[in-house]
Amino acid sequence: MTVHALKEKSMPHSESHIPAHRGLMFDEALLIEQSSEGRSGVDLETLKGTKSRTGLATREAIGLPEVSEPQVVRHFTRLSQMNYSIDSGMYPLGSCTMKHNPRLNERVARLPGFANIHPLQPESTVQGALELTYTLQHWLAVLSGLPGVAMSPAAGAHGELAGMMVIRKAHEMKGNSRKIVLVPDSAHGTNPATAAMCGYTIKTIPSTKDAQVDIEALKAALNKDVAAFMLTNPNTCGMFESQVKEIADMRHKVGAYFYCDGANFNAIVGRVRPGDLGVDVMHFNLHKTFSTPHGGGGPGCGPVAVTKELTPYLPVPYVAKDGERYRLVTKAEHSVGRIKGFQGNFGMFVRALAYMMAHGADGLRQAAEDAVLNANYILSQLKDLYHVPFKGYCMHECLFTDKLQKEQGVTTMDIAKTLIEHGFHPMTVYIPLVVQGTMLIEPTESETKRTIDNFIAVMRLIAEKTAAGEGEAFHENPRSTPRRRLDEVAAAKNPKLKW
Ligand SMILES: Cc1ncc(COP(=O)(O)O)c(C=O)c1O
Repeated sequence: MTVHALKEKSMPHSESHIPAHRGLMFDEALLIEQSSEGRSGVDLETLKGTKSRTGLATREAIGLPEVSEPQVVRHFTRLSQMNYSIDSGMYPLGSCTMKHNPRLNERVARLPGFANIHPLQPESTVQGALELTYTLQHWLAVLSGLPGVAMSPAAGAHGELAGMMVIRKAHEMKGNSRKIVLVPDSAHGTNPATAAMCGYTIKTIPSTKDAQVDIEALKAALNKDVAAFMLTNPNTCGMFESQVKEIADMRHKVGAYFYCDGANFNAIVGRVRPGDLGVDVMHFNLHKTFSTPHGGGGPGCGPVAVTKELTPYLPVPYVAKDGERYRLVTKAEHSVGRIKGFQGNFGMFVRALAYMMAHGADGLRQAAEDAVLNANYILSQLKDLYHVPFKGYCMHECLFTDKLQKEQGVTTMDIAKTLIEHGFHPMTVYIPLVVQGTMLIEPTESETKRTIDNFIAVMRLIAEKTAAGEGEAFHENPRSTPRRRLDEVAAAKNPKLKW
């Protein structure tokens, strides 16, 4: 075997300003010299026609790079350092709730009794895991005021699907053939998408100038053909829908169900029980309210909770208790059925319950209050320099637009990219769609005042430089990242997933 020399290559200055200590380029492993024998150093001729034990002929060397362990370690460590994560710094993505993932959760999830069980083990050998799931179902039921909980959906959007399938089933059981689902114009895109996947026609309800559902428009749209009204509360403008009780009463009068997108439950957990407000079905995003990791940090979990009336239609499986024994309910006569393999993402159940038990009921409420306080602090510190589209206090996230900066040619995108240059992950941009040039900022409860003050200072600096006519330079940001500004429309519409 040949040991190949690595070509060192530093990034051209115009491309990046990666600090020198980051050393080689991220594709170092791809720069390994190819030998005449092929990348693996194995003679291709020798391999041709060889039969493997399975009888499959191997015609080509498989092309694994010849690299030493330190090289591999450095390659992947360098790649990981190019990522920005909640463990690197503040991540104020509105509507995403990038809160700290406590290490306690990870320690508990790694306990061998939880980490090493198999989903096909006999029930008698996993009583502890079933008890944990049952306890989590119970906490979610108590916090939401909705007694029926199923844990298996694998994300918020999946929980929405499960919830809307429950609603569809309930109408079917009543012999209803309702066709319409009402969704406010400020809703997260998954709401209309879910209703459409369940075969419904979507009717959009406009928002008022105070970012509240337009009650008159809702009243006019409600009739016996409406299967459900979907509402996110607090809504995606960061405001509490104060007429939620009236909305619930209105839709009940025509026999429609009230779906609450509980993605923003982190702002009200411990203070408001959606069931008390007349909600029939809601989902939770465990990764938002209960601190389990997002996306690449681990699989998601979007449990769904329903009223007693709707409990028979919940997706299976869920856990029931008979005397002292816990039992997995895998079949129920009127259930919408199974929507996920096995029991769901059990590791996330462990993390969420660890978070809940570590905080207790008062700690969860405190987390929600701190999240709201932090967002209002940012709102109060930036409202003199950035346009605020909706007046009043916000909930867990505050909303600005680029209206004032645009007059100087600086857009929301420029502001977001300039934040990167100052070491912050950008806020959520151009969502919600009800106002132009939006910046949705969610600091969460887990940031310190000092970090939030630094963020505010950078945002103020950007606005002040823009006002002083120095905003031109922001069009070029970010300058010191491994990749400069991307054509995001092309990247979304024409993704190159291989190179
Ligand atoms: C309001 C709202 N609804 C639904 C979702 C979808 O949740 P998930 O990303 O877990 O599928 C999100 C996600 O951010 C959200 O903010």
